[in-house]
Amino acid sequence: MSTRLTFLILSGPTKEYIDPVRYISNESSGKMGKALAQAVLEKDHKVIFVSGHVNVLPKNVKLIKVVSALEMLEAVKANLKKSDVIISAAAVADYRPAKICKHKIKKSYSTSYETIELKRNPDIVKYCADHKTNQIVVGFALETCDILKNAKLKLKKKNLDLIIANGKESFGSDSATVHVISADGILKMRNKNKKIIARKIINETIRIFQNIKVDKKIS
Ligand code: C5P
Repeated sequence: MSTRLTFLILSGPTKEYIDPVRYISNESSGKMGKALAQAVLEKDHKVIFVSGHVNVLPKNVKLIKVVSALEMLEAVKANLKKSDVIISAAAVADYRPAKICKHKIKKSYSTSYETIELKRNPDIVKYCADHKTNQIVVGFALETCDILKNAKLKLKKKNLDLIIANGKESFGSDSATVHVISADGILKMRNKNKKIIARKIINETIRIFQNIKVDKKIS
């Protein structure tokens, strides 16, 4: 077998706490992340799995559980250099509350609590792409309109090697309709099981990784 690669997979939603019991989050079951990890293990490569709070977790991976986007970024920073491929299937919250209230906010509190001031979270997958050396960086784009156009824009803007565009019908489902988009073209997979989609994404990722290595050797 050729060299074992290390895949850093980000999965699940982040939770951005407002007070000890309330938070801002995104819809995400973690099923795609788990399917990706399993597809990597089937090929006998290694997985570092960074996950937000979900019940769906893969076995036989190095598991790092996180809560917020800032924690996810710290886990990524600690593992980026050890990884050959980074795949972000995580539903990272774009914003977090500027302040976390120490105690549960009561209805009787002053009206100043009727508005939550938000701060922008770092874009984790973009951080990976901006700091990559020899790695491949793969992102997901969940779009509710102009799926292809928006995903292609994200591929470029975030400097990714591959992006998988999907619609919100895939939430929590075992299947999805996706477009797998790279510089080489677009592959559409309609209503396929996430395990099948994950195997295709992992094969495509390995192909791009190997091509880049060959290109580097030639030049
Ligand atoms: O939120 P957006 O549609 O831009 O997400 C596209 C990709 O960027 C996904 O792979 C997601 O995991 C990643 N992302 C991220 N950090 C954020 C927002 C999104 O890594 N703060």
